[in-house]
Amino acid sequence: MGSLQHNFCFSLFSVSSTLFLLLSLPCFPCNPSPEARRLIDRQTLEVGIGSGPAIGIGIGIGGGSYTPPSSPVSEPSCPPQNPPPPPPGDLTPGDFPNLLLYESYVVIQRFKKTIYSDPFHITGTWVGPDISKYRGFFLETPPRFKNNTPAIASVDFNGFRLGAPTLAGFLDQFPDLALFHANSNGFAGTLPGLTHLPYFYELDLSNNKFAGEFPSSVLPLFNLAFLDLRFNFFAGAVPPSVFSLPVEVLFLNNNRFSQPLPSAVGRTTAPYLTLANNDFTGAIPSSIGETGGTLIQVLFLGNSLSGCLPAGIGRLQKATVFDAGFNKITGPIPLSLGCLSKVEQLNFAGNLLYGEVPAEVCRLANRARLLNLSLSENYFTSLGSGCLDLLRRGILDVRKNCIQGCAGQRSPEECALFLACRKYCPAVEYVPCYSGWESRAGNHGSSSPSAKKNGR
Ligand SMILES: *[C@@H]1O[C@H](CO)[C@@H](O)[C@H](O)[C@H]1NC(C)=O
Repeated sequence: MGSLQHNFCFSLFSVSSTLFLLLSLPCFPCNPSPEARRLIDRQTLEVGIGSGPAIGIGIGIGGGSYTPPSSPVSEPSCPPQNPPPPPPGDLTPGDFPNLLLYESYVVIQRFKKTIYSDPFHITGTWVGPDISKYRGFFLETPPRFKNNTPAIASVDFNGFRLGAPTLAGFLDQFPDLALFHANSNGFAGTLPGLTHLPYFYELDLSNNKFAGEFPSSVLPLFNLAFLDLRFNFFAGAVPPSVFSLPVEVLFLNNNRFSQPLPSAVGRTTAPYLTLANNDFTGAIPSSIGETGGTLIQVLFLGNSLSGCLPAGIGRLQKATVFDAGFNKITGPIPLSLGCLSKVEQLNFAGNLLYGEVPAEVCRLANRARLLNLSLSENYFTSLGSGCLDLLRRGILDVRKNCIQGCAGQRSPEECALFLACRKYCPAVEYVPCYSGWESRAGNHGSSSPSAKKNGR
C-alpha cells in the first residue's frame, strides 16, 4: 500500500494561488467518484458470506446442540393446530416414536411439495419414519420433557440451495425449534411469526431472497442470540427495537435498509454489529459510545451516512474493527479516537473528512494495536506527528487527499473546491483517556513536512 508513497512526500508544491482563485466557486456535489464506487464493490466482497478480514466470525455452524436460553421457559403455547391432513403415503402416527414427530413429518412432507429447487437432492432423504436421518433436521429431547422424547430441535439448511416460496407453515410448526440456519438458499416471502417458539434463539437467513420490511416477527424474541439477515433484499427502516434484542451477533449488511440509524443503536449488546452496504443515511448516532462495554467489530461501510464523526466513538474501548468507509461523513477526526486502545483496523476511506490526521490516532500503531488506518479519498490536509512513519510502514493510507508533499493526492483544484465549502463539524480536541501528563503537543518531534498544525 504505502510503500512507494513516502518517497514522494518531500517536495512541497504550492497551490495557494489556485486556492485563492477558486475560493469563491460554489461547492461541488459531494458524491463518491466512480473509483470510490468500485472500491465499494470490492469492499462488498470483503464482508461476504462467512469471510472477510473484518468479521472474525463464521457462519454456517449449526445443528443439533441444545444450548437453551438461560431464562427458564414455561410450557410453550402451541400454535392453533388444524386437524392434520390425511397422512402422506401410508405412514401413521404409530410409525413414529411420538406424536410430535409424526406431526413434524406431516409438516416436512407438505413443505417438501413446495420446494422448486433442490440441486443437491436433499429432499430425497426426507422419506420414511426416521426423521433423524433426514438431512438438515436434528432431533433432541426438549427441556419441557423429562423422558426421552425426541423432537425437532434445529433445522440447518446451510448451503443446501433449496428454493421455496415461503417458510410460513413450516418454520413456525416445530414447537421446540431452537435454531434455524438457512445460509445460501432461495427462500423468500414473509417470515412467519416465531414468537410462540419458547426455545428459539438463532436465526440465520443470510443469502436468501427475502424482501420487504424488516421481519418484525423476530422482534419480540427475547432469547434471540444470533440474527443474521445479510445478503437479502430487506428494505426500509430498521425498527429501533432491533437494537434491544439480546443478540451477540447482528448482521444486517447487504440489504436495502434505509433511513437514519436510530439512536437506539447505542442499546445493542451485540459485540458484532454489521450494517454495511445498505442505504442508511444521517449521522452515526453519538449513542454508539454507549456500546463501549461490548462492541468489538462494527461495520458501517458502504452506506450514505453523513454528518460529523461523533466523539463518542472514542469510548469503544473493546473495538478491534471500526469501519465507516465509503459514506459521506465529514468533519475532522475527533481526537478521542486516540483512546481506541484495542483497535486494529480503522477505516474511514472514501468520505469527506478533512483537517489533520491526528497524531493521537497515529500513535495507536506504536502504543496500541493499530495495524491499518485507511484514510484514502478524503480531504485531509496534513499529517500529525508520527503519521508519516505509519505511511512508510504501510499502515496509513492517505492516497487521494489534499496533503501537500505527499504523492497521489487530489488535484489542487479539487482540494480548493472542497476546502471552500462551509464546515460545520466541531473540532473535538478532548482526549478523554489522556490523563494530563500526556498533552496534545507532546514531545514527539514532527517528522512530516506538513505536520504543522494549520487551520484547526
Ligand atoms: C486496510 O484496510 C482497508 C479498508 O478496510 C483495506 O482495503 C486494505 O486492504 C487494508 N490494508 C492492508 C494492508 O491490510
